[in-house]
Amino acid sequence: MGNLVLPLNSSPLLSSGDLAGGTPHLSPRGIFVTGTDTGVGKTLISCALLHAYAAAGYSTVGMKPVAAGCESVRDGLRCEDVELLRHASTVQAPLDLVNPYAFAPPVAPHIAATEAGTTIELARIRQAYLALTALAGKVVVEGVGGFRVPLNEHADAADLAQLLDLPMVLVVGMRLGCLSHAMLTVEAIGARGLTLAGWVANRIDPEMASFDANVAALQQRIAAPLLGVVAYEAQPDAIRTAQAMLAPFCGEL
Ligand SMILES: Nc1ncnc2c1ncn2[C@@H]1O[C@H](COP(=O)(O)OP(=O)(O)O)[C@@H](O)[C@H]1O
Ligand SMILES: [Mg+2]
Repeated sequence: MGNLVLPLNSSPLLSSGDLAGGTPHLSPRGIFVTGTDTGVGKTLISCALLHAYAAAGYSTVGMKPVAAGCESVRDGLRCEDVELLRHASTVQAPLDLVNPYAFAPPVAPHIAATEAGTTIELARIRQAYLALTALAGKVVVEGVGGFRVPLNEHADAADLAQLLDLPMVLVVGMRLGCLSHAMLTVEAIGARGLTLAGWVANRIDPEMASFDANVAALQQRIAAPLLGVVAYEAQPDAIRTAQAMLAPFCGEL
């Protein structure tokens, strides 16, 4: 089935700043992809954004500041998200910039870091991000878990987003319970003074009842534009997702 995506918004992308009458972001160098939870499609949409930017003529690099649940291999750790992002990037940047922190246990980042005897430092992530901006025209930063997942004793992923000060894309994993998660995340993004550039409805549960009504409920409540609706696919494909949905917005994001 080829209907991976139903493009819903044919107007040029407006940031929530535009909608609120604030200062719009003008083609910033990076974008921060957050989600309503872990496992909702952040990596898929981040890879799609990378492909879309590349199709628009940008050099690109994906960044995964913190990866947990990595596989131990002979010469270190293998992180699937990092591999997918690198595969979707046009620039092959050093691994320690693309992924400053990698952990084997599939647990919350600050717990994984503690177990590894280290501490996640936001300043190190920012340095890596800035180094990446010197290597590529667009940097797509895939967030960690949900928007408020702790990163160390004091800071969480929202603090990281604020430190990097990038426009946000929210991936809503469409399943029962996602409406509240989505609205809480939108509220938290606004409370941090960050711009929600747009959101994506990603159908991760093919059995979700009243799917269209759920998307409509969010569309009615989220001021930022709906960038597209990603259908459930047995084999999700980031290039198809990019072609069908995100490319038209790419120049604006
Ligand atoms: N639209 C979709 N249809 C089917 N499977 C999907 C879809 N989006 C994501 N998935 C799958 O769900 C899992 C989690 O997606 P992923 O992008 O890794 O989420 P996250 O980065 O938020 O943890 C992956 O196995 C991915 O292939
Ligand atoms: Mg991921």
